[in-house]
Amino acid sequence: MQEIQERFVGLVREKIDNKNLKYNILTMGCQLNENDSEKISGMLEKMSFAETDNFEEADLIIFNTCCVRENAEEKLFGKIGEIKKLKEKKNVILAIGGCMMQEEIMLDKIKKSYPFVDIIFGTHTMQNLPENIYKAIIKQEKVRDILDIDGEIYEGIPIKRNSKFKASVTIMYGCNNFCSYCIVPYVRGRERSRSPKKILEEIKKLSADGYKEITLLGQNVNSYVGDEEIKNFADLLREVCKIDGIERVGFISPHPKDFTEDVIEEIKNNDKITRIIHLPIQSGNSKVLKEMNRKYTKEQYLELVEKMKKRIPNIVFSTDIIVGFPGETDEEFEDTLDVVRKVNFEQIFMFIYSKREGTVAEKREDQIPEEVKHTRFDKLKELYESRVDENNEKYIGTTQKRVLIEGESKNNQDTFSGRTNTNKVVIFEKTEKSKIGDVVDIKITEAHKWYLKGEII
Ligand code: 5AD
Ligand code: SF4
Repeated sequence: MQEIQERFVGLVREKIDNKNLKYNILTMGCQLNENDSEKISGMLEKMSFAETDNFEEADLIIFNTCCVRENAEEKLFGKIGEIKKLKEKKNVILAIGGCMMQEEIMLDKIKKSYPFVDIIFGTHTMQNLPENIYKAIIKQEKVRDILDIDGEIYEGIPIKRNSKFKASVTIMYGCNNFCSYCIVPYVRGRERSRSPKKILEEIKKLSADGYKEITLLGQNVNSYVGDEEIKNFADLLREVCKIDGIERVGFISPHPKDFTEDVIEEIKNNDKITRIIHLPIQSGNSKVLKEMNRKYTKEQYLELVEKMKKRIPNIVFSTDIIVGFPGETDEEFEDTLDVVRKVNFEQIFMFIYSKREGTVAEKREDQIPEEVKHTRFDKLKELYESRVDENNEKYIGTTQKRVLIEGESKNNQDTFSGRTNTNKVVIFEKTEKSKIGDVVDIKITEAHKWYLKGEII
């Protein structure tokens, strides 16, 4: 953490210590945002704020916004309205940060229509939060702290993690790909990788604190650039897996165009790496993919999947799919369904295309009518769900290695709940030796729609 921010942490602490002030944080969006929120919480707790789930009893409310899809805007405006009412009843500071604040149009709208918002900060200025809180609380100023250049990487921001066993570690920021539908490169800036030394130090510390599972995060993890020794993503994966105590390692999201041989080899040789690979396809049609600027064809994607399935036993895939990209015909959408049948994805995150101002696709005149988009979405969902049972049944009789025990299952205190290294929920009887946080091997005995059952072996 920067020295100047440390000073502000101290100043705020001095003023509010013993006042028992509470904060509430609402995170919208992806795991990168979740990870940013953990850092926001870390900074706030250092300033002596305590977390509350109930925004009505909070003295400080933070919205960490996402701008990847359009509907998030409506949700944000609704939430701001709720806080406006709360502000009429009590003294509460409202801070809004995250990707949406890096969008000029949204920023202007918030400034004009919601002048009562106390602090606005962007993805590149999150680390200034102590100073901004100081100005808002102590000096009662309105703070607007946005930078539109690519932010530097700030190390050492305190972090309050949501789990005791699983941790996300951001390895790179930004994106250079400019997929034609996507706003991320405009709001998160160009790719910047963290130094391997800092990443490994953070993970070693996590391991010492009892963490067992690490997810490496970035908009495009496989374009990670390291240093002389740990040069690329494959090298980093290998080094992370060497850390004692870390039992499972995952990563999101890789880009299919950058999925190199050495990464495949690393996954194959290293069973700490999860056996589910999130490989966003977006569309199964080569013409649509070209217009999306994804830089691979349907065939290349399928070849990559086949190659990995051959080399790495039991590997499964999850993906992101956008339906209704401008100009997408019914036949082109059929190609997406075809890929879904062929790959048999374990999980699909399905999105209806939404126009993002400033992107290339937004300017196209051949936008798809809403009802067509919805029909395609339903068709995709139906196809995916029709295959869930069959996919789950394949697990019966198998031994799932490295299941992390995450807690007691909700409905039965005699059983634990965990996740396989393909991210399936599995429920199993407790044994004398097993405890939360352990990593165990489980023999699968039953398959249900949304979970498996098994026993520790
Ligand atoms: N409309 C719909 N979905 C989008 N995504 C990104 N931009 C858009 C958009 N404009 C989806 C992509 C990406 C995921 C994080 O969000 O599938 O992989
Ligand atoms: Fe957006 Fe494409 Fe970058 Fe992913 S790779 S963040 S979809 S531009």
